[in-house]
Amino acid sequence: MFKWANWLKSGNNFEKEVASPSGRNKLKFVLKNGAIFYEVRRDEKPLIGLSKLGFELCGEAPLGENLKLVRARYKKHAEAIELPWGEDRFIPNNYNEAIFYLAESTLDRRIFTLKFRVFDSAIAFRYEIPPQPKFQRLSVADELTEFNVDLNSTAWKIPAYEPDRYEYNYEKSSIFDFEKPVHTPLTMKTPIGYYLSIHEAALYNYGSMTIELKNHKLKSNITPLSDGTKAHLNLPFETPWRLVMIADSAIELTTNRAMFALNDPPRGDFSWVETLKFIGIWWAMYVGEWTWAPGEKHGATTEHAKAYIDAAVRLGISGLLIEGWNDGWEGDWLENGINNNFTKSTPDFNLAEVASYARSNHVELVGHHETVGFVDNYEKQLESAYNYYAANGIHYIKTGYAGSMMVINGRKEYHHSQLGVNHYQKTLELAARKKICLDIHEPIKGTGIERTFPNLLSREGARGQEYEGGAISPSHACYLPYTRLLSGGMDYTNGILDITNSVKRLSTTLTRQLAYFVTIYSGMAMAADRPFIYEERFKDVFEFIKNVPTNFERTIPLAGEIGEYYVVARLSRDQKTWFIAGVTNELARRVHLDLNFLSNTAYSATIYTDSPDAHFRDNPYGHEINQRRVNPQDSIDIYMAPGGGFAIELRQL
Ligand code: NOJ
Repeated sequence: MFKWANWLKSGNNFEKEVASPSGRNKLKFVLKNGAIFYEVRRDEKPLIGLSKLGFELCGEAPLGENLKLVRARYKKHAEAIELPWGEDRFIPNNYNEAIFYLAESTLDRRIFTLKFRVFDSAIAFRYEIPPQPKFQRLSVADELTEFNVDLNSTAWKIPAYEPDRYEYNYEKSSIFDFEKPVHTPLTMKTPIGYYLSIHEAALYNYGSMTIELKNHKLKSNITPLSDGTKAHLNLPFETPWRLVMIADSAIELTTNRAMFALNDPPRGDFSWVETLKFIGIWWAMYVGEWTWAPGEKHGATTEHAKAYIDAAVRLGISGLLIEGWNDGWEGDWLENGINNNFTKSTPDFNLAEVASYARSNHVELVGHHETVGFVDNYEKQLESAYNYYAANGIHYIKTGYAGSMMVINGRKEYHHSQLGVNHYQKTLELAARKKICLDIHEPIKGTGIERTFPNLLSREGARGQEYEGGAISPSHACYLPYTRLLSGGMDYTNGILDITNSVKRLSTTLTRQLAYFVTIYSGMAMAADRPFIYEERFKDVFEFIKNVPTNFERTIPLAGEIGEYYVVARLSRDQKTWFIAGVTNELARRVHLDLNFLSNTAYSATIYTDSPDAHFRDNPYGHEINQRRVNPQDSIDIYMAPGGGFAIELRQL
């Protein structure tokens, strides 16, 4: 029980340093003349300089000044967390924690706590505000949290508050040059060579944190609501964790799992969740063969759906996505999205018939809800729309929010605002109740909540392959592992092998498309091209797409540099097969793979590489497939062509 007498005696100046388990990271909490700050060092070198904490509130005094320390508690924690699916079965959760209970010395006497966790690979903290007699709800005008990183650091950024949400090309710049707020994860390299990524974990009921440069410091910039406030909160409230991932190299950063460790264990029984690989009535729309809207070229007909189910069976793929099956796609679907009806199909599509055909062929259907951001329209139908799919035995839904803003309560709101965050959460919790898994396009960024709600199998949330045909360069997929993918898996819509299609020409080689299934993890992974392309033109390389799992036991980052290249190895959950893959930017590259991480036994390796004359521009299909027997003492030398990649399957003999 909180005792006022205690705090009256304590001072308004205090400092306490907390070290990570190995002692390499040290976080110091500073209470100075009643104001609160923190700073971080690694190997005794400054990493984050003195940084302010606190809030500006609407209609009330700021929270974060005139404070006294009431009590402090320290705790060690060490455990291995087991995840039902993902890149690693086990992730470490080892940290030292400090909790500081603070109270105002002014008449308001409001209280709150600051909780810090110091990991060897990260620091994190959150504000926890309990309800108090005169303080039961609040509206945040500004969160003052700073991340005072050296301004000479290099950053890889995408802009926030833009119409295409997170779907931008990464740009490299110094922090000095930040003109506008940027999204997290915000990855940086400091002048002394450490790698950091500022992000957040467990984002619930609050605006998403973007980062801005203000008064020569990086500062949180919480996405506002249309009324100008950042969030309206009922107490008690705990903010998302403010997280800074820390690594000695770019490649080490890619397997930072602190974000997941900071989230709560599963809320309920999710043993029914299974990851999925799927094909789709989809890319045919992008290359103009079919349309979403009904008409002569309508893609989602009963007939096409059944043919695709047959193809999925022949290809050995378990799922099928069907887009454009429902009423509302007529005309300009982006403009008219408010008309979407999620329980009424077009006259040429019979959901019950298709679902029953899928069931009898053991194919999982992936339903589709394109809301175009019209959340009001979607929420009106939410319960009946999910019931409709559930009644037809559909356990997966791809949702989409392609509008530049959401429409919530009749007002335009950012996707990453508090109201946007709450909407995505509502769909996720409803889906969980109906035993449905989600793949959210135009989502809220990942903050690790799939640990708590494992039915959130994937998200888009970055520029995906649908931008091919001019707007993606080979470097893009070499940025993702160090930036966007630090926030969790991504549905990049891999495996498009008809590279030189006259409508959508891709900047890739053939084997790079295989590599994506390993370099870009997704709990729901799409083999995105039309099935006839796999069956008639590329049966040999499709073997890799068929075999690569969507759930891994362990991931080992092997080599890479941000925007240049990325090489990773992943072990299947049955621990019998390794999948190794890499991608490079516009430059050709050789990599030497030491296989010393293999178990001490022989493996049969199938190696898919770019041919020596392959090139993403002139010869994208040039590839070789080689078979070899290898053991842990061996190494493999690989050539990646400009814009290319490679993929290897190593099967235990
Ligand atoms: C954008 C999504 O990313 C894409 O996958 C989908 O096909 C379209 N919206 C239409 O819903």
